[in-house]
Amino acid sequence: MIKTTNIKVTPAQTSKLSQVDWEKLPFGRVFSDHMLVMEYTDGEWQEAEIKEFGDLPMHPAESAIHYGQSIFEGLKANKTAEGDILLFRPEMNARRFAESSKRMCMPVIPEEMFVECVRKLVEIDSNWINSEPGFSLYIRPFMYAIDPYVGIRPSDSYRFVIFTCPVGAYYSEPVNVKIEEFYTRAAAGGVGRAKVAGNYGSSMFPAKIGQELGFHQLLWTDAKTHTFIEESGTMNIMLMIDGVLITPSEESDTILRGITKRSVIELAESWGIPVEERKVSIAELITAIKDGSLTEVFGAGTAATIAPIAKIGYRDEILEMPPVEGREFSNRVVETMNNIKSGKEPDVFGWTLKV
Ligand code: PLP
Ligand code: COI
Repeated sequence: MIKTTNIKVTPAQTSKLSQVDWEKLPFGRVFSDHMLVMEYTDGEWQEAEIKEFGDLPMHPAESAIHYGQSIFEGLKANKTAEGDILLFRPEMNARRFAESSKRMCMPVIPEEMFVECVRKLVEIDSNWINSEPGFSLYIRPFMYAIDPYVGIRPSDSYRFVIFTCPVGAYYSEPVNVKIEEFYTRAAAGGVGRAKVAGNYGSSMFPAKIGQELGFHQLLWTDAKTHTFIEESGTMNIMLMIDGVLITPSEESDTILRGITKRSVIELAESWGIPVEERKVSIAELITAIKDGSLTEVFGAGTAATIAPIAKIGYRDEILEMPPVEGREFSNRVVETMNNIKSGKEPDVFGWTLKV
């Protein structure tokens, strides 16, 4: 195993930073100057290199393209008013990446090495982080199989890459979701818990049907009975019913173990708000909406941040959620999380890592 200090740096000749239009910054389409590339060959990770962002080589028989050994992560860096760079819980992404690797028969990157690769890349492109409110640097680590081989078996070689994108919010307005009772995102025993590329590809067709009906996202339900809500396409789902914060439990292996959701739970607990992680049926959700005991509903995710849900589609009905302004808990969460990420408030939870 290589030491994490062995990251070769070949700086880009020129910077694209001056071309960025911060007023109109689309999510995920603007890329910083550098990327990190590290390959796994001969049974070990080779030296990582940070170099100019650009195309990667691809053999037509590249295993990931044909059989889907491909995983990714998403995390963010923020800049404080003092100019410090803070990563939000990168060790949690490192752990989830390792878990996804194992599930997909891919080599594990030691967690410290993963974090060091992220840290070093972000340090080099730190001038791409806008410290104005609402901006952050989205970091996309991913790994895929690169054996040029058409047979089906775990690849022997892999490429790990990290690139970064300056971003604003993923959703620019409150989100409308449709409860999906036919298609399935993840079944027990499958790969729903892992952050596997194929989970997203297979969700696109049902999500497109939802979008044609005016919904941003689907609210997935369990594969077996389609009676329990699970999560949305880009975020976990959280509800406030009768003063209790409720979210579908992670016990089933069909839900992504969200880092934002975990942080919201930790905040709620620190504020003395009861939390329940358990199964949530569609019937319970609909009843709580109709009898007014549901006061808040939002998605939680790195890209999505805390995304208020405005409408929920259920069969032929469109149910209006309570107004966003009155949502005391989620508004407090947004403010506190933003303050911690931007260093305005002491990080009593130890969530941030200074680059
Ligand atoms: N669920 C899905 C399917 C996601 O893609 C994401 C985003 O990463 C989440 C939940 C939220 O996870 P996290 O808060 O770790 O970003
Ligand atoms: C993330 O929040 O990091 C995700 O992976 C969601 C993706 C749609 C951007």
